[in-house]
Amino acid sequence: MKMAMIVAMDEGGFIGREDRLPWRLASDMARFKRLTEGAGSNSVIMGRKTWDSLPDSFRPLPERVNIVMSRDTGWLAEGAETALYVGRAIELAFAEGSEECWVIGGAQVYEMFLDRVGEIHVTTVHTNDSGDVKFPGWDRSEWSEEVIESLDSDDENECPSTYSVWTRS
Ligand SMILES: NC(=O)c1ccc[n+]([C@@H]2O[C@H](COP(=O)([O-])OP(=O)(O)OC[C@H]3O[C@@H](n4cnc5c(N)ncnc54)[C@H](OP(=O)(O)O)[C@@H]3O)[C@@H](O)[C@H]2O)c1
Repeated sequence: MKMAMIVAMDEGGFIGREDRLPWRLASDMARFKRLTEGAGSNSVIMGRKTWDSLPDSFRPLPERVNIVMSRDTGWLAEGAETALYVGRAIELAFAEGSEECWVIGGAQVYEMFLDRVGEIHVTTVHTNDSGDVKFPGWDRSEWSEEVIESLDSDDENECPSTYSVWTRS
């Protein structure tokens, strides 16, 4: 099972503001859906706060096994499997027969899984000081970047962005 991470961050590493995404980027949303759905047998792992931030119409994220990290042994939500620790989340994805397991945030969950993934898919949003939550510090010298595409802003994308895939070198 492939383990990957997907994140959109601004140039200073910010990923969220007041428990929401700081920007509206339709291109990034479409890419997120395409990559994480894959062929229809993937899992996503997210933190309980990120689960709470999803609009009702996208919760659970369709066509994917939704695994939510919480320390609360009583936490339950329809359409989600709860994991109390990292190994449990990976085990759940594996037991579901997932081809790919995507770690989709937020900051606390990215930090927990950084050493468990082989790829990080990063959309760099070309703006600054977007929020109050940052992607954890990571040593980019241990990773190689392949820039896939750069996009300008338009009616559906508030800021220009660059999409890259980082793999462990
Ligand atoms: N830009 C992006 O790509 C992106 C992606 C995702 C999210 N975000 C943004 O990121 C922000 C949320 O990030 P966040 O860091 O505040 O929250 P988070 O990582 O989504 O969720 C945090 C929660 O995870 C659970 N947790 C943390 N450590 C744990 C552990 N060791 N074991 C088990 N469960 C654990 C806890 O849930 P309990 O409190 O229930 O115990 C904790 O409150 C929002 O603004 C969201 O919009 C951005």
